[in-house]
Amino acid sequence: MTGQLEIVDLHVSVGGKEILKGITLTIHAGEVVALMGPNGSGKSTLSYAIAGHPDYEITRGSIILNGKEITRATADERSRQGLFLSFQYPVSIPGVTVANFLRTALNAHRPQNEPIDVIEFYELLNQKIKALKISEDFVNRHLNEGFSGGEKKRMEILQMSILTPNYAILDETDSGLDVDALKIVAEGINAQRNPNLGVLLITHYERILSYIKPDKAVVMVKGRIMDSGGPELVRAIEAEGYDRWVKE
Ligand SMILES: Nc1ncnc2c1ncn2[C@@H]1O[C@H](COP(=O)(O)OP(=O)(O)OP(=O)(O)O)[C@@H](O)[C@H]1O
Ligand SMILES: [Mg+2]
Repeated sequence: MTGQLEIVDLHVSVGGKEILKGITLTIHAGEVVALMGPNGSGKSTLSYAIAGHPDYEITRGSIILNGKEITRATADERSRQGLFLSFQYPVSIPGVTVANFLRTALNAHRPQNEPIDVIEFYELLNQKIKALKISEDFVNRHLNEGFSGGEKKRMEILQMSILTPNYAILDETDSGLDVDALKIVAEGINAQRNPNLGVLLITHYERILSYIKPDKAVVMVKGRIMDSGGPELVRAIEAEGYDRWVKE
């Protein structure tokens, strides 16, 4: 399956205030697109709007997943159609273990009468946690409860590797990670790169992009896409910051 996630002239308001002012961006399957931009430029707003968060009102434009309009679809429908979102501030779910959460999430993506066999699930889970160097007792803990920042991020990548989405929007997956964890998370994402996976990687830093080579980088400032380019653009941002776009 090849395809694309298209964001067309997207305008998004929060509490009546327009934050995104006409975003047009295409993420092709097989591609990693880095989305960069200063604090408050609207990067997370874009990820919430793509997720279908009710507080983020789409006032104009559309989101099209493999040719199908999902602008008004529920978050659940989006997820079933192969969209995966990780958030800058993941929520905790007390009382639900990591293993149970992942099994429920995986079954929700399968036909109703075909839940994954429990033994098969644990084999899959064990294989994935080994690859991400996550300790075995981690999966019996309650989801995100008391997790360190780095553990939450690893948890997201674990979730992604179990669900094998078609498109993943990763918001600041690198924030709060120490150098070793960053490498493991980046390797975890790289291991999942394939012609059927398109990734929008939201980040502030070049560091993660030295591990995960993006096919394209785009710069968002004040709710608009101001520039796009290759590795040279990422290097320029790291060296000079966003001044040249902020001043315009
Ligand atoms: N739920 C909300 N309520 C009020 N304002 C919001 C809300 N969500 C976003 N905003 C505002 O929208 C603007 C863009 O915020 P957003 O979180 O999208 O920025 P960002 O580019 O992700 O920034 P950062 O790099 O700091 O994560 C900010 O001015 C923010 O205060
Ligand atoms: Mg953000």
